[in-house]
Amino acid sequence: MPALYNLARADKLPDAFAIIGVDHNDQTTQAWRQNLTETMQAFARAGGREGKGEAIDEHAWSWLVGRMHYMCGDFTTPDTFSQLGKLLADQQQRQNGTANVLFYLAVADRFFGPVIEQLGRAGLTRQSEGAWRRVIVEKPFGHDFASAEALNAQILRVLSEDQIYRIDHFLGKETVQNILVLRFANGIFEPLWNRDHVDHIQITAAETVGVEARGRFYEQTGALRDMVPNHLFQLLAMIGMEPPISFDADAVRAKKTELFHAIHPISSDDAVRGQYDAGMVLGQKVRGYRQEPNVAQDSTTETYVALKLGIDNWRWAGVPFYLRTGKHLSARTTEIAVQFRQAPYALFRDTPVERLPANILTLRIQPDEGLSLSFSAKCPGAEIEIDGVEMDFAYRDYFAPLASVGYETLIYDCLIGDATLFQRADTVEAAWCAVQGLLDAWARTPATDFPNYAAGSAGPEAADRLLARDKRIWLPIRGNHTHGRQSA
Ligand code: BG6
Repeated sequence: MPALYNLARADKLPDAFAIIGVDHNDQTTQAWRQNLTETMQAFARAGGREGKGEAIDEHAWSWLVGRMHYMCGDFTTPDTFSQLGKLLADQQQRQNGTANVLFYLAVADRFFGPVIEQLGRAGLTRQSEGAWRRVIVEKPFGHDFASAEALNAQILRVLSEDQIYRIDHFLGKETVQNILVLRFANGIFEPLWNRDHVDHIQITAAETVGVEARGRFYEQTGALRDMVPNHLFQLLAMIGMEPPISFDADAVRAKKTELFHAIHPISSDDAVRGQYDAGMVLGQKVRGYRQEPNVAQDSTTETYVALKLGIDNWRWAGVPFYLRTGKHLSARTTEIAVQFRQAPYALFRDTPVERLPANILTLRIQPDEGLSLSFSAKCPGAEIEIDGVEMDFAYRDYFAPLASVGYETLIYDCLIGDATLFQRADTVEAAWCAVQGLLDAWARTPATDFPNYAAGSAGPEAADRLLARDKRIWLPIRGNHTHGRQSA
């Protein structure tokens, strides 16, 4: 709803726009509108996710709320769908005759297949000239390779691939989209973007939140399923894929899929799992995962995962990709660091310089969106001494922030039929396939050392050992970027 509200404010929705909300709660359209108005007001006051409070834009909201209608219905009964069909037909008559319909499945994942089948049976997915029918499917798309494949097969019996928009909300983030522009619209990066010049890549999605009220869901899911084959792999794809021939949806998605197919099977030796214990996060005392509501006292569900991935292609063979994500870590940050190969040292043998700091290009996805490049500079003075310095670009210094909760672009793109930022069936399956071996291995041998990291820390020590083995270290998890100094 906040995304639709932002789209309404930016004048991006057509006049003939209307929403029909379907749910099993018995309530009137009036009550539904009232409820959403209160929620939106509270959301705007709290300043959305960024905490910059403001009053709701009454004009935009009343434009939107006046177009909302509520229908009470059970997703499992055919009646609901015939009634919905009638409402859609009424709506079409009332509003300039548009017959385009987008079904947005913001429902528990067990309903994705059944709802789409019912939509198909009721004839609601049939398209004709000037009347498209599209479906947005939320996450999680399957819980492993087999279930994702089965769900694709089930929904592809009803819909054609170009009607399905599988969401991964990371792709709605402006800075994630910008990775492709950075790589392909600039002449300086792409020639270096390969195993001849890159030493390794680190992808971090650190969260300060715990599982919040989602214990029941999270117990079945864990950090690997929840974040890796979807969100982290989207970042991996953007940073690692070959250049697509155009921004056409299929051109981009084909390259991503190829990259996922090139991921080397992940051995358990290259993976670390963790679970948070009680601790202090951002100055607040928090409980351990096993003490969270709806979580088993002896739970072996992981809330942290770190992986070393290899990509078997000409560009990346031999370049490790280290991925990590976890709940209740020391700071909230999502970033990608590309560390370049060390310069040869010979020239500095007879100087006081003991070590040359590495060049690291850091792409900050959130919260402090930007880019920095660290390199070596000579300290002023007679002696040759080197210090690490940084060039930094922050989005906020150049561009006015757009009101965004991350779903605006995705909803808008679906309305205009651009599927570039959505997952294709084969991409989702390739991603699951890449982590399936590890999911199986972890299911066979539950962790025995949980909890193994304190809430508010940087994660389990075993994650440090994973990199130490390769004589590397994780970059510090920093929330707000500050111009850093790397000492030589
Ligand atoms: C969701 C996961 O898909 O992404 C959550 O289920 C996670 O567990 C969230 O917290 C992270 O998204 P963001 O946009 O807050 O980084």
